[in-house]
Amino acid sequence: MYVLLIGAPGSGKGTQAKLLKEILKVEHISTGDLLRRAVAEKTPLGEKATAYMAKGELVLDSVIIGVLEEALQHERYAKGFLLDGYPRNLNQAKTLDALLEKLGLTLDKVLYFNIPLPLLEERLTGRRVSSTTGKEYHVKFHPPKLDGVCDLDGAPLIQRPDDQPDKVKFRLEVFQKETVPVVEHYKKKGLVAVIESAKTIPEVQGQIMQALQL
Ligand code: AP5
Repeated sequence: MYVLLIGAPGSGKGTQAKLLKEILKVEHISTGDLLRRAVAEKTPLGEKATAYMAKGELVLDSVIIGVLEEALQHERYAKGFLLDGYPRNLNQAKTLDALLEKLGLTLDKVLYFNIPLPLLEERLTGRRVSSTTGKEYHVKFHPPKLDGVCDLDGAPLIQRPDDQPDKVKFRLEVFQKETVPVVEHYKKKGLVAVIESAKTIPEVQGQIMQALQL
């Protein structure tokens, strides 16, 4: 199954993709995770992305499109994928459509995570990530068993630099301007299922299962 997860920063795309991946047994591709890894490893891609990510801006299309094209050629995606955080603007959407057509793949669904913007600030500023495993928590909504450390290996939890309040505000503006038109693009193709993501994690998952007829 080929599914896109589109929504504002903090709307729950990553949380749900990780749950859905276990059910569908397909790969989860997060362009954000991919870029953060490249930044941490100081690869040429990471060097190109660092400044944009730190400010909460989109990384240049000329950089990210190539990365995705290369990833999608891989045969581990032959059974499907959950594409999380891509496309983020109309240009990326159109190049993705063309690439899928070239590869003979068809999108099954675009899940749009709809949520009132004021709720997102609390979600993002409260997010914590394990410094080793990358497992995500929330200080209020999804806390670790022991304060400040990962359940899996006890590593310290950190805050993403772009989850600081001033960066969060800017990322939400970028979403409105650049990514909302992508939702409209896929609505015209009849592919969008709106997921009301202000609800609890299990309730959001239930809506997704229904939308995908699982
Ligand atoms: P990326 O990593 O994709 O960040 P994002 O889209 O801003 O999304 P987030 O990861 O912040 O949020 P999410 O929707 O996954 O929410 P989550 O599930 O974690 O991108 C980062 C940067 O990389 C971009 O700013 C850009 O610079 C660059 N980039 C990436 N892709 C790009 C592209 N295609 N083009 C150009 N640049 C690109 O949930 C958030 C928190 O809420 C968590 O703490 C979670 O535990 C909690 N939570 C989740 N669901 C619920 C719920 N139902 N109830 C309560 N709490 C919940």
